[in-house]
Amino acid sequence: MKKELYVYIHIPFCYKKCPYCAFVSYEKHLNFLDNYVMALIKQIRNFDGEDYTVKTIYFGGGTPTVLKVKHIEKILKALEDAFNLKIEEMTIETIPNNVKSNYIKALKSLGFNRLSIGVQSFRDEKLKTLGRIHNSKDSIQAIETAFKYGFDNISIDLIYGIGDSLSTFEGELDFALDLPIKHISTYMLSIEERTRFFELLQNGKLNLPDDGLVSDLYLMLCEKLNKNGFEQYEISNFAKSGFYSKHNLAYWTYKEYVGFGVSAASFMDRKRLKVTDDLYKYIRNPTASTCVEEILNEEDLIKEMFILGLRLKKGVDLYEFKRLFGVDLLTYYKEKISKFLDLGFMKIENNRIALNGCKAFLVSNAIFSELI
Ligand SMILES: C[S@@+](CC[C@H](N)C(=O)[O-])C[C@H]1O[C@@H](n2cnc3c(N)ncnc32)[C@H](O)[C@@H]1O
Ligand code: SF4
Repeated sequence: MKKELYVYIHIPFCYKKCPYCAFVSYEKHLNFLDNYVMALIKQIRNFDGEDYTVKTIYFGGGTPTVLKVKHIEKILKALEDAFNLKIEEMTIETIPNNVKSNYIKALKSLGFNRLSIGVQSFRDEKLKTLGRIHNSKDSIQAIETAFKYGFDNISIDLIYGIGDSLSTFEGELDFALDLPIKHISTYMLSIEERTRFFELLQNGKLNLPDDGLVSDLYLMLCEKLNKNGFEQYEISNFAKSGFYSKHNLAYWTYKEYVGFGVSAASFMDRKRLKVTDDLYKYIRNPTASTCVEEILNEEDLIKEMFILGLRLKKGVDLYEFKRLFGVDLLTYYKEKISKFLDLGFMKIENNRIALNGCKAFLVSNAIFSELI
C-alpha cells in the first residue's frame, strides 16, 4: 500500500520585505522566477515519489502568487508525474494585492480549493506600521473576489501585538467575522533577528505593547472567535466546522511531508531534511541542495509527537500513542504531567491528554520546554 504524503512548495519571493518577517524570501528578485521554477521542477522530478500518495499540496512563501499561471501549471505537472495524487486540499498563500479575478479563476481551474490571504490587519494605520503594501480595502476586495470566483475555503492571517489596544483588535475581529471566510490563523508578533523590527527594537525605536496586553489580546481573541463559530483547533488556528487545515494538521499529527524549494523542510523516515536557504545555490543545483538535519531516535519521536499533539485542542490520544510507540505517556512523563495537571494547565478526558484551554495555550511554550 502507498504511504500518505503531504507536499509543500516554497516560493521565496516577495515584492517588498516586511520589516518583521524572517521567512526566507527575497525582494527584487522576480527576474529569477523562470529559473527558480525550472529548478523546482528538477528537484521534484528527482524525488522518488512512486511509493506515495499525496493528500495535500501547499504553496507557501514568500508570496507564491508572484508566480504566473504558466509557472504553477508546470509545477503541478511535475508533481503529477512524480506522485500518485489524491488531493483533498490544495492551498496557495497570497497577499491581497494579487487576488484579481482572472488569476483567481485560473487558480480555481488548476485545482486550488483553499486560499490563504495575508490580510494581517483591517486597520490601515497598523498595516503601515507593519510595512505592508496593501490597505484594508484591498483585503476586503480580495476576500470578496476570491469568494465570488468560487473559493469557498478562504483563510486569513492576522497579526497582533503591535499598535493594538483591546478594543481596536476586537474591532478587527468583529470585522473579520462578517466576511465570507472559513479559517483564521492568528500570529502574535515575534521580533526575529535579522529583521528591520529587530534593529529598531535594539535602537529603542520600536514601540511594543507590554506582555500583559499581548496576553489579554490572545485571551480575548480566543474567546471571541470560539464564541462566534470559529473552533479553535490549534493554539493559534480557528476554523468553521469542517474547515480545519488538512495540510497543517498533517504537521501537528506527525505525518510525513516533503518540501520543495529554497528553505523547505521535509520529514520522512524519521529524518528531518532541509533545503538550502541560498537562492543562487539552489538554482544552480536543486537536486544537491537538501541536507539531513536530524535523524530522530525513539525518544525524540515520543517527545516531539507529544508536544505537537498538545498544540491541538483535542490533544493526544493515549491509546493511539501507546499503540504507535508502546509507551504509556502518563508513566513516561509521570512527574511533569502530574505537575501540569495540578496547576490546571493540562487535563485528561476520554483517554486524551490536552492543554486545558486558552490560559494553558498562552503558556504553552514554557510547558513544552519543560517536556523537552
Ligand atoms: C510566510 S507568511 C506568508 C503569507 C504572505 N507572504 C503574507 O505575508 O501575506 C505567513 C504568515 O506569517 C506571519 N508572520 C511572518 N513573520 C512574523 C512574525 N515575525 N511574527 C508573527 N507573525 C509573522 C504573517 O502573518 C504571515 O501572514
Ligand atoms: S510577511 Fe509575507 S509578504 Fe511579508 S516579507 Fe514575509 S513572506 Fe513576504
